[in-house]
Amino acid sequence: MKGVILAGGTGTRLYPLTRLINKHLLPVGNHPMVCYGIERLRQAGITDILMVVGKQSAGLYTNFLGSGENYGVKLTYRVQESAGGIAEALELAGGFIGPGEKFVVLLGDNLFLDDLTPFVKKFKQQEPGSARVLLKPVKDPRRYGVPVFHHDNPDLIEYIEEKPQNPKSHFSVTGIYMYDDSVFGIIRGISRSARGELEITDVNNRYARDRKLEYDVLQLWWGDAGTFESLQEAAIHMKGVLP
Ligand code: G1P
Repeated sequence: MKGVILAGGTGTRLYPLTRLINKHLLPVGNHPMVCYGIERLRQAGITDILMVVGKQSAGLYTNFLGSGENYGVKLTYRVQESAGGIAEALELAGGFIGPGEKFVVLLGDNLFLDDLTPFVKKFKQQEPGSARVLLKPVKDPRRYGVPVFHHDNPDLIEYIEEKPQNPKSHFSVTGIYMYDDSVFGIIRGISRSARGELEITDVNNRYARDRKLEYDVLQLWWGDAGTFESLQEAAIHMKGVLP
């Protein structure tokens, strides 16, 4: 199984810092943010990893991470020309994933303490053409994608609402997604949202509509380090995760 880490984007909520340096390279403890995602994949036995990076910061990533050898992984890089949404960035992984191959996608600003191994194991047993997402109960679901569960099969997500005003559950869909190559056909079939982006929630909702979206719930701390407050909180929780 392969891994894809999406580390592009502009990180406007972290201006002015992110005008100097890409969000996923900002320090969390004594490592750049992106290193924690690499470590979580490695821990789950996923060492063949594609980094999707923005064009302004591509050189910083290769300078710092190189081949990935120091982190026990093998890195490949793809450069995202413009910020057109998570699904647009994911589309760049098309050539990296072979026919029928399964992979894990991490949003580079999602930091978490769970070991992914048991979730990856369950996904390996899922039928081809299905997907799995990881959820976490949160205080304010309105900031996230929020799942609604199937009434006749609580193991399935019926649909996800992106940043709803009146959330129908108290879960966030985290930026940890598991797909096979069927995802690339789905991305080609979705349209841009009102904010001009290809939305990952629209992709996941295609799987959900076909009753092919399963999930697990993270047991330990999770956060998306997209704001100053969450960045500081992340540094406290991730302390000691990397040497
Ligand atoms: C994205 C997704 C959202 C998800 C979140 C997790 O939101 O669109 O569904 O809950 O990541 O970090 P963004 O942070 O890009 O607004």
